[in-house]
Amino acid sequence: MARINSDPEIGRYLNRPVDEAAVAAFFGLMIGHWESHGYGPWALESREPEIEGRFLGFAGLAHVPPFLAAAGSAPELGWRLGRTAWGHGLATEAAITARDDAFARLALGEIISIIHPENERSQRVAVKIGMRRWKRIENPVIGIEVDVWHQITDRPRPLRPADRTRR
Ligand SMILES: CC(C)(COP(=O)(O)OP(=O)(O)OC[C@H]1O[C@@H](n2cnc3c(N)ncnc32)[C@H](O)[C@@H]1OP(=O)(O)O)[C@@H](O)C(=O)NCCC(=O)NCCS
Repeated sequence: MARINSDPEIGRYLNRPVDEAAVAAFFGLMIGHWESHGYGPWALESREPEIEGRFLGFAGLAHVPPFLAAAGSAPELGWRLGRTAWGHGLATEAAITARDDAFARLALGEIISIIHPENERSQRVAVKIGMRRWKRIENPVIGIEVDVWHQITDRPRPLRPADRTRR
């Protein structure tokens, strides 16, 4: 992950420089996220025979940090790939898998993605998986406005215990 992040093109639209210490902190946070929520980002590995198992990047859900609370409470679907993996549809494939898992297995009603207004590649992924641009908020860490995209499930949601007692 640190090798992927060291590419300036990768870090261009991210919140802050992502050096090895930041990667280690992120890894710890995401392990904790899996433990407390039962979901989090997945590592993406190649299935090409000559590079099978090579780490390509990540995609998946995580709750946004407190400084992005204006984005709302739905978990964020994020994606990041090393540059050699771009242009093959892999981010879109991974995002669709994570989106479907969010709405089917996890029965979430809504997901968001926070995307820099100039990050056209990321916006294309959002459009291709059916997200819509929803609102613009301030990101105080990078001091600019970013777009919140969202998608709402069209699946019927299972009744929660609170719904049952109201009937
Ligand atoms: C955002 C990011 C993951 C997008 O990667 P990507 O490879 O461009 O995205 P996709 O997986 O959708 O692939 C797109 C291109 O692959 C090509 N492609 C090839 N086969 C494909 C397939 N089966 N399905 C879809 N696209 C395919 C298409 O030409 C497509 O380009 P298009 O959208 O112009 O048609 C990548 O740019 C990245 O990691 N950036 C740095 C980190 C970052 O900014 N993350 C997002 C923060 S919000």
